[in-house]
Amino acid sequence: MSNFFIHESSYIDNNVTIGENTKIWHFSHILSNTVIGDNCSFGQNCVVGPNVSIGNNVKVQNNISIYEGVEVEDDVFIGPSVVFTNVINPRSFIIRKHEFKKTLLKKGVSIGANATIVCGNTLGQYAFVGAGTVVTKDVPNFAVVVGNPSRQIGWVSKAGHRLKFNANHLALCPETGEQYQLKDKMVFDL
Ligand SMILES: CC(C)(COP(=O)(O)OP(=O)(O)OC[C@H]1O[C@@H](n2cnc3c(N)ncnc32)[C@H](O)[C@@H]1OP(=O)(O)O)[C@@H](O)C(=O)NCCC(=O)NCCS
Repeated sequence: MSNFFIHESSYIDNNVTIGENTKIWHFSHILSNTVIGDNCSFGQNCVVGPNVSIGNNVKVQNNISIYEGVEVEDDVFIGPSVVFTNVINPRSFIIRKHEFKKTLLKKGVSIGANATIVCGNTLGQYAFVGAGTVVTKDVPNFAVVVGNPSRQIGWVSKAGHRLKFNANHLALCPETGEQYQLKDKMVFDL
């Protein structure tokens, strides 16, 4: 039996798995067949599922719906009031439940407050989405994107610091000292 916390104002539907030390705060709803990992937290007014998979150590702030079609890997941060989508061309009079487009948030992604992620896109490992951004295409690993539509303004380290590459295409994280290489418009941790 897992040791997790669910606030009494929240609802958990059938066949949901919740990991160790995960906390689900006020007025939230976890729908059926959802799997949530260890050490996660969900703020007030969150809806997750059905059929959604959330990794370990995922932090979800207030007012967020994570719909079917969104997959969240480990160590992802989702800022307050971030919006996800799962139908690219919704019409109220056409049922498109079999046409959900996938959104994948890879390990270590951070998404700033009030960003919107248009479905069908992948946010690469440790990518950083600025506050209020509208993501309309894939975001590379370690990229920082801002604006509507999103555009890349640079690169960040795992710890979330901007990377300044030297003439040899190498950069150091000022916090951890980890080294990164820029090669063929992609960043790799060494
Ligand atoms: C994306 C972000 C990390 C960039 O921070 P930074 O590396 O310090 O970047 P800077 O402030 O130097 O900005 C660089 C440029 O991008 C612009 N910019 C930065 N963030 C932006 C955003 N969210 N939307 C649009 N433009 C943005 C700046 O205006 C600046 O433009 P300029 O060169 O024309 O002056 C930060 O601005 C951000 O949005 N953080 C998210 C905060 C948040 O939502 N936290 C949630 C938990 S409380």
